[in-house]
Amino acid sequence: MEPLTHPLLDEATVSQLRATLLADETSWQDGRKTAGYQAAEVKNNLQLDRNSKTAKENSQLVIKQLESDPLVKSFALPRHIHGVMFSRSGIGQGYGMHVDNAYMSSGRSDLSFTLFLNEPESYEGGALCIQTLQDSKQVKLPAGQVIIYPSTSLHAVETVTAGERLVCVGWIQSYISSNEDRTILFGLNAGARALLAEHGRSPELDLIFQAYTNLLRRLGS
Ligand SMILES: [Fe+2]
Repeated sequence: MEPLTHPLLDEATVSQLRATLLADETSWQDGRKTAGYQAAEVKNNLQLDRNSKTAKENSQLVIKQLESDPLVKSFALPRHIHGVMFSRSGIGQGYGMHVDNAYMSSGRSDLSFTLFLNEPESYEGGALCIQTLQDSKQVKLPAGQVIIYPSTSLHAVETVTAGERLVCVGWIQSYISSNEDRTILFGLNAGARALLAEHGRSPELDLIFQAYTNLLRRLGS
């Protein structure tokens, strides 16, 4: 399954969010506290304490945005968005190659997301690297844009060499655990929605939406 990159927060929202996070001087802690056993050895960053007021309020904001975005809904079919964390990496910090835990105390990870919160020009290094079969896809998006990718992927964060990288990461438990099934459903839904936008409702389109909905019911969990 190909990752989805998508604008999620507008400029005003992202700059307000960034200011709120950085104004909290007491809640940032060593990222190794939240890593699984395989990841702890390769994790090197700062994370906002999930129990802090700043983290709770702002993770809700991100979850609401993801849940209300039609493209994200169609792509990820989210049942539960969880484990949301704010992370900052300064010079010398990164996150080595790893795979995210399949099950966390907060839910199953079918899809992982990284929402970039500062502009790519403000830091060097810090790209999210997603391993493909023979290559590695490097991703560094403008502030407010999110990438959603299968949690089955090996991935890393390049070491930051200048400035500071600020992101929000989290996981999606999808109604559809299989990447392949989710990809098929996404294509069907995208095609039907495009037909609806172009030609309006029709009995034929009703049949396609019916098949889509019943396929989702059959494959979902
Ligand atoms: Fe990860």
